[in-house]
Amino acid sequence: ALGAAMSVFVTRRIPAEGLRVLSQASGCRVQQWDSEEPVPRAELLSRVAGARGILCLLSDRIDREVLDAAGPGLKVISTMSVGFDHLALDEIKKRGIRVGYTPDVLTDATAELSVALLLSACRRLPEAAEQVKSGGWTTWKPLWMCGYGLSDSTVGIIGLGRIGQAVARRLKPFGVKKFLYTGSGPKPESAAEFGAEFVPLTRLAEESDFVVVTCALTPATQGMCNKDFFSRMKKTSVFVNTSRGTVVNQDDLYDALSQGQIAAAGLDVTTPEPLPTDHPLLSLKNCVILPHIGSATYATRSTMAVLAANNLLAGLRGEPMPQELKL
Ligand code: NDP
Ligand code: DGY
Repeated sequence: ALGAAMSVFVTRRIPAEGLRVLSQASGCRVQQWDSEEPVPRAELLSRVAGARGILCLLSDRIDREVLDAAGPGLKVISTMSVGFDHLALDEIKKRGIRVGYTPDVLTDATAELSVALLLSACRRLPEAAEQVKSGGWTTWKPLWMCGYGLSDSTVGIIGLGRIGQAVARRLKPFGVKKFLYTGSGPKPESAAEFGAEFVPLTRLAEESDFVVVTCALTPATQGMCNKDFFSRMKKTSVFVNTSRGTVVNQDDLYDALSQGQIAAAGLDVTTPEPLPTDHPLLSLKNCVILPHIGSATYATRSTMAVLAANNLLAGLRGEPMPQELKL
């Protein structure tokens, strides 16, 4: 039991299974921004006042201002995401606040979506489906709507972590010839399953037919896929990003796609989110953009919510969390 009433603030409407875990915990007093839309900043700052715990999403920037607004009673932040680039970890650590997150449970869903996005981009699925609707499909044409396939290809994975490995595992049966990867250092145990070779980013860009970005957003990865990176890629290569939008310099990506420096791109994440509907990238036929739906299966989102709720409760009780981010 939590003992004296512990107030927690949940920053959004989340799957019911997660909220139920909190509302059934004795001594837990739940306040929620019960909306599909983000809590306005001013509202967030006023609602967190006096909270012991916050259950937040990747779209909530939890910085010094929020921590100050919550006050010294704040003990736990539980994010319903595996990414934690929205949390001011230095400040959080300084204040002795514990952090929960949701690794593993979304790996399969995100890897599946990464593969779907890759295939959509390389085989031009949205563009082809649009042709059916618009009457552009006049007959079977040998030279029409051709793209690039995975057979005999080289796939470069930027960040061979949980999701990167799950992507490689799914792509291997398509007949990929060679996997390359990059990261902060070689990971022979993770790479062995795919016979993947650790290479510098420049070589990965030059040799890959498909580049898949599955790294975390850090100061080192921010803007990593830039003009120099795209200029090294082959004209026939396809670029896919399911990590965070700011790993990519979008102006440089636009130039590469519009000038035919690379063949196509698939993005599940952008800067900003949502991407404005008049953004230049949306005018390109060779760029498939999705609204950050990597983990969006019903089951995965439900499991993420339950895990985030259990992390929060464990933190409030001073117990080990099911998934704690060690600061
Ligand atoms: P992991 O921590 O397992 O993997 C992150 C990887 O990033 C590690 O392999 C790490 O490699 C790599 N990395 C760190 N620094 C660099 C670098 N400088 N260059 C290249 N790679 C680097 O996390 P997950 O696989 O679980 O998740 C990865 C990210 O995916 C999340 O942080 C999140 O941003 C994003 N994500 C997006 C989703 C979506 O809906 N689109 C859904 C879920 C996650 P190393 O070990 O060598 O440092
Ligand atoms: C995460 O968890 O970091 C994703 O971006 C959303 O599931």
